[in-house]
Amino acid sequence: MSSNFFVRHSFQCSLFIAFIVLFSLQWCAFAADFPNPVTKCHFGDEKCMIEQATKLLKKAATGIPEKNIPSLEPWKVAKIETLGDKSKALNVDLVMSNVEFYNYTKASVSGIKGFTKDLSKPMKIVTRNINPHMTIKAHYKINGNILVLPVIGEGEMTMVLDNVKSRFTTTIKAQERNGKHYMSVDNIKIESSVDRVTTEMTNLFNGDKTLSESILEVMNENWRVLSDELTPRINAALAHSLEELLTNFFIDIPYEDYFLTE
Ligand SMILES: *[C@@H]1O[C@H](CO)[C@@H](O)[C@H](O)[C@H]1NC(C)=O
Repeated sequence: MSSNFFVRHSFQCSLFIAFIVLFSLQWCAFAADFPNPVTKCHFGDEKCMIEQATKLLKKAATGIPEKNIPSLEPWKVAKIETLGDKSKALNVDLVMSNVEFYNYTKASVSGIKGFTKDLSKPMKIVTRNINPHMTIKAHYKINGNILVLPVIGEGEMTMVLDNVKSRFTTTIKAQERNGKHYMSVDNIKIESSVDRVTTEMTNLFNGDKTLSESILEVMNENWRVLSDELTPRINAALAHSLEELLTNFFIDIPYEDYFLTE
């Protein structure tokens, strides 16, 4: 009886596998579209693309499960690290962990350029946005000097950034699959400027109130010292995360379907 049982089961099993394979083939054949409410634009219609990108950001706040994009409000990054450099005004080892960006999705997109019709060459896409007010929260561990003053501690930090203007550059390349072109995102760079950074840190110097208050005052009066060093690290971490998100987003949408054809 056991061999019969086995045969019947393995037959059912093969049916099941055949069904899965068939289903996934069909799945591939149905090219995905932009998620609602993002719509297509005419080629070169930057105003329309800006509107769609803004809608997409808003949608990303709650996540886009069908595109494997988690909620970006807050946008979570595991770790951002800076190593001390004696030649710099900010000479600290700083580890930020469980980093959360709040209000990142509230940015307004101000430019999208670089989409071409020629798929034989990689496209250099440049996007710009402006974020009036965002907040970064993280667990921190710091040790070093800021403007030659010693600073040490471990606790929670909050940075409020006013008027962040960012420029995103990326190269996208077309890969052909089943007669259609799918784009892969590569090498995202984020550069940004900010009008003001205000930092709060709990438990500096093991909770010594006088020392904490005076170092935070120095940090906030000289916020550029902090921001000049941290901004490139933060942007590199975000760029890395964004690369994954955009890869998920574009993976099943053929470039042929990006724009309206009439
Ligand atoms: C998010 O932005 C709104 C204004 O759009 C502001 O009132 C709020 O304080 C911001 N939240 C954080 C955590 O920065």
